[in-house]
Amino acid sequence: MKGRSISSVKALEIVDNRGMPTVRVRVRTENGCSGTADVPCGSSTGTYEARELRDGDERYRGKGVRKAIHNIEEFIAPRLLGMDTTRQRDIDLMMIDLDGTKNKSKLGANATLGVSAAVAHAGAASCGLPLYRYLNAHAYMLPVPQSCMVNGGLHAGNDLEFQEYCVMPVGARSLAEAVRLLSEINLSCKDLLAEKYGKGATNAGEDGGFAPPMKSAREAMDFLYRAVHKAGFENEVVYGIDVAATHFYDKDRRKYLLEGTEKDRDEMIAFLKDLVKEYPGIVSLEDPLFEDDYEGTSLITRELEGTMIIGDDFFTTNIHRVRKGVMEKASNAVLWKPNMIGTVTEAFETAHYAMQHGFSVVVSERSGATEDTTLSDLTVALNAGVIKVGGIRGSERGSEYNRFIEIEDELGTSAAYAGRNFDKTKP
Ligand code: PGA
Ligand code: ZN
Repeated sequence: MKGRSISSVKALEIVDNRGMPTVRVRVRTENGCSGTADVPCGSSTGTYEARELRDGDERYRGKGVRKAIHNIEEFIAPRLLGMDTTRQRDIDLMMIDLDGTKNKSKLGANATLGVSAAVAHAGAASCGLPLYRYLNAHAYMLPVPQSCMVNGGLHAGNDLEFQEYCVMPVGARSLAEAVRLLSEINLSCKDLLAEKYGKGATNAGEDGGFAPPMKSAREAMDFLYRAVHKAGFENEVVYGIDVAATHFYDKDRRKYLLEGTEKDRDEMIAFLKDLVKEYPGIVSLEDPLFEDDYEGTSLITRELEGTMIIGDDFFTTNIHRVRKGVMEKASNAVLWKPNMIGTVTEAFETAHYAMQHGFSVVVSERSGATEDTTLSDLTVALNAGVIKVGGIRGSERGSEYNRFIEIEDELGTSAAYAGRNFDKTKP
């Protein structure tokens, strides 16, 4: 259809919640529709992620994105002009071909994902549909938010090695109610932190959780249990931890540097097994071992049967890595971050592959985010059972929660909150 053909592609260097530059892309069509998308960005990145292009000059301490913008406007845009914006797959394949590398290092994954997501938005707008509906006629599921309450690791200036301690309000009856539970738990956390550590401990970490001066996983879990109890939701909430083990693994010594000790793989697995035993509310562990340990991940998946073992840096949303995980039964869920792979098409391929092979898909934000809400729509389009969306504070997170509330309202009686059925691999 001529009206849907792309008439302009514009890219801008903007800043995210951390004050770091990122890419915004706007695509317009002949019939006057447009789609805009901002590219998220991680702080604790995996080795096998698609490469985002950074300028490496004196601006923004080398983090500027003018090169990515140049690639969009000089190389990608001329190929897009006149193409039907609903031809998402053709457009993404064209960019993959134009880039020609395995990890988008030529054009930059921040360039390709920005264009890919803006094209999807423009496609939805030109069809007069919300993005989730445009991508899936059968979209109906609102995910359980796995909401980060305590930050550690690379996301906080404290001594906790594990990166995120999260709560999941599975007992809520709707997404909107889940948001209320999170808000009240967040306030309980704040009260308890101020009481025990002083008000300085109520400052936020990078994922919108708190970053208190805690020292051990047990201290963090005890605290979370108390906060959830204080809020009155102990029967409604379960817990998830992003161990993010790659970031405290010493490759040379082949040891995990954890809580003042050095642990080999078996000791690390034993530590996590004990933790899950002591805190039976823990239902998911992300990246329990470092990103290359398929054998160990397979072992812990077997030993912690019934727990969601999620691969983040381990899979980097890359279908080849997920394929290996499926074959070796290493983990049972994929953390899904479209910017790790660089196009909407590839991200969906990975998600569908995972689902078809009995793995769950846990959608996730990056720590670097804007108020862009594309991810909420993509989550509903996937009918994913869980989204890791950071703490409830800050408009870069709030906008995602609010978009879910909006979608739930729009879907009306056809909406279903995943609730206790968040793990799609279970009967
Ligand atoms: P990142 O962290 O966005 O900083 O990479 C999120 C995560 O590890 O899940
Ligand atoms: Zn992670």
